[in-house]
Amino acid sequence: MDTEYIRLDGRNIDITLAHKAGATLRNGGTVAFPTETVYGLGANALDPDAVKKIFAAKGRPADNPLIVHVADASDVVPLVKEIPEPARLVMANFWPGPISIILQKSGLIPDIVSAGLPTVALRQPSHPVAAAIIRASGVPVAAPSANLSARPSPTCAQHVRQDLDGKIDMMVDGGICSVGLESTVLDLSGDVPAILRPGGVTPQMLRPLIGEVAHSLGKTDTDCAPKCPGMKYRHYSPKAQVCLVECGSGRAACVENISKEIARLCAESKREGKRVGVLTCAGEGSGAPADIFIACGETPGEYAANMFAALRQFDEQQADIIYAALPFDDEFSAAIRNRLYKAAGGRVVKV
Ligand code: TXA
Ligand code: MG
Repeated sequence: MDTEYIRLDGRNIDITLAHKAGATLRNGGTVAFPTETVYGLGANALDPDAVKKIFAAKGRPADNPLIVHVADASDVVPLVKEIPEPARLVMANFWPGPISIILQKSGLIPDIVSAGLPTVALRQPSHPVAAAIIRASGVPVAAPSANLSARPSPTCAQHVRQDLDGKIDMMVDGGICSVGLESTVLDLSGDVPAILRPGGVTPQMLRPLIGEVAHSLGKTDTDCAPKCPGMKYRHYSPKAQVCLVECGSGRAACVENISKEIARLCAESKREGKRVGVLTCAGEGSGAPADIFIACGETPGEYAANMFAALRQFDEQQADIIYAALPFDDEFSAAIRNRLYKAAGGRVVKV
């Protein structure tokens, strides 16, 4: 199929074009659009045939449920059995924004959306383009990240084009995603709130509002299995092998120790004839014998915003192996660490 491209400027939205994208969604088509986290690939969440097209375009396993996006918090009411108090509080304080909540679903949500689970994940994105398109569609919009399954999530229109051109009906270019990492997934369907996927909204931010939140800070690969089906798959992966080099003690010591270790690892990989990339934060490993250096930014926020684009860039430059320096250890960085762990398939060097 031919994918139709349109451009929407979040600061000055062309209502006619937003309605065109909305009508495509309402009528059963697939539309990729920007959100503040990453680009999503949307379809009418109430139409199982439309949702099927998302799974086909992405090559997504059928047992991995989708997040349903709404234009307004009140749109959640018919989609769930009830809205418990913690959900009300999270919605009031963090929506629109980068957090998805899981609740018991109502009969309106087709099984294909929830992958047969009795629950549904819901989110109101804050990106003005996403908000305009969802509102214009007049329906709840199921939308996973707009990448091929197992590829890094897309943070600009070019990434979506690389993965999905010719496989979806419409593509809305709305510029670069500011957060750069997918939303926090918070399960509020059981007795204890639990973070199934760390993101921009951290346990620290949630605790004052809803009390204790179960989480494992994204330290391991099996973190949230089996409750969060998506997390069991190899994810966020460039074609190159990724090796995470991290250090848990103090920023200054970390930079020095990580640099030494990266230099050693790069030399080893060069001897094996590999094309070597280094993903740095504040120039860690800059003296290492690598072929490609990409700096992600010196703060966790910058690092998160640039990370997926960097992983794709290493692919374009045909890296065989990427050594990724991770010198942060705060709660927000748990989201970065979680994605890098998964991209690394568990290959981690601690210094
Ligand atoms: O920021 C985001 O969340 C982006 C934008 C487009 O909104 N979307 C996104 O969707 O990252 P996706 O499909 O790539 O990731 C959704 C994650 C998956 O790991 C999935 O397994 C989990 O949420 N999930 C969805 N519904 C669930 C449910 N009912 N129970 C448990 N996990 C669920
Ligand atoms: Mg995804």
